[in-house]
Amino acid sequence: MKILVTGGAGFIGSAVIRYIINSTDDSVVNVDKLTYAGNLDNLKGVSSSERYAFEKVDICDLPELERVFDQHKPDAVMHLAAESHVDRSIEGPAAFIETNIVGTCNLLEVARAYWSKLPETQKNSFRFHHVSTDEVYGDLPHPLEEANACQRLFTETTSYAPSSPYSASKASSDHLVRAWMRTYGLPVIVTNCSNNYGPYHFPEKLIPHVILNALHGKSLPVYGAGDQIRDWLYVEDHAKALHLVVTTGVAGETYNIGGHNEKMNIDVVKTICRILDQEIGKSGLSEGYGGLIKNVKDRPGHDRRYAIDASKIEKELGWKPVETFESGLEKTIHWYLENEHWWSRVLNGDYKLTRIGEAL
Ligand SMILES: NC(=O)c1ccc[n+]([C@@H]2O[C@H](COP(=O)([O-])OP(=O)(O)OC[C@H]3O[C@@H](n4cnc5c(N)ncnc54)[C@H](O)[C@@H]3O)[C@@H](O)[C@H]2O)c1
Repeated sequence: MKILVTGGAGFIGSAVIRYIINSTDDSVVNVDKLTYAGNLDNLKGVSSSERYAFEKVDICDLPELERVFDQHKPDAVMHLAAESHVDRSIEGPAAFIETNIVGTCNLLEVARAYWSKLPETQKNSFRFHHVSTDEVYGDLPHPLEEANACQRLFTETTSYAPSSPYSASKASSDHLVRAWMRTYGLPVIVTNCSNNYGPYHFPEKLIPHVILNALHGKSLPVYGAGDQIRDWLYVEDHAKALHLVVTTGVAGETYNIGGHNEKMNIDVVKTICRILDQEIGKSGLSEGYGGLIKNVKDRPGHDRRYAIDASKIEKELGWKPVETFESGLEKTIHWYLENEHWWSRVLNGDYKLTRIGEAL
């Protein structure tokens, strides 16, 4: 099977491609514009495979997308290309509208034209898999504010209520994808996943940001009181789930993907500090890395709690995450300690561990 993966040079897309090349017989065409978040270093171990091809293409460029479909003739699409950082969406929403909404619409149109001309058997097995986020559902009650809040989880039928320009743009793209099935019959699948973490994560996101700031002896910013809750999933568990969905999922279905790991941000930061204290000593810091924690002004519109009910994908497709939060976090920290060449190249570019989107 040949899978066209958009956004394959990003954090999750590269994990998907590494998984497909290393653990399956499928082929990949990686379509990526290489924005600040796209990094071909993420694919160094697999890019020489005969089953891998790269196309530096913007999903907003319709003629180029048509050429890529014509040339590579994929059996399925996994659509991950997006602007993905909430803080950046607060500072500049336009790129999010352009890539996440207009780009998804272009991709749907090109995929539809291509799919409609396929022979019947290929037409039936073709899938357009849209990779989305739990942030489209808005936020859930928080246990500090409501008794029994922990019993409330996002399911596949939870109503959409996005809070940020990022989540609103992803919600729009989810609606477009489902409409292309209802209106044109394109066989689509949507997955909505919780927060990912793991190797090759761009250091503007919480976990790598804290690890790298700590290694540089910089303060560890925690938004507000740090009591916001996220449901963490190790990226390689997500990559396996996504491949299972595109190869065995039912067209027209939505699958929520999550790791059953609800954690307050402040606890995530303290756990990273504790592991770093154990792994590399306290580096002359009397209180250890935890002494670097600093509460900063909260993000505008910050969602309080996300938590996924992943029972549908577990029951229907037999997926379960392998990593616990503790085992995944230890793997992640070891990876950053062992891969300074990767993150020093990232930090030598435009991004300097600075905060984005504090405005308002
Ligand atoms: N990171 C998470 O925790 C998380 C959780 C759930 C869902 N998601 C979704 O998964 C997908 C991947 O997320 P990620 O964290 O890997 O993102 P990322 O920001 O690390 O990577 C995005 C990739 O898309 C590429 N890209 C951006 N605009 C493009 C365009 N116009 N044309 C072609 N390529 C373009 C970038 O170059 C980059 O390689 C996104 O759709 C995101 O909404 C992410």
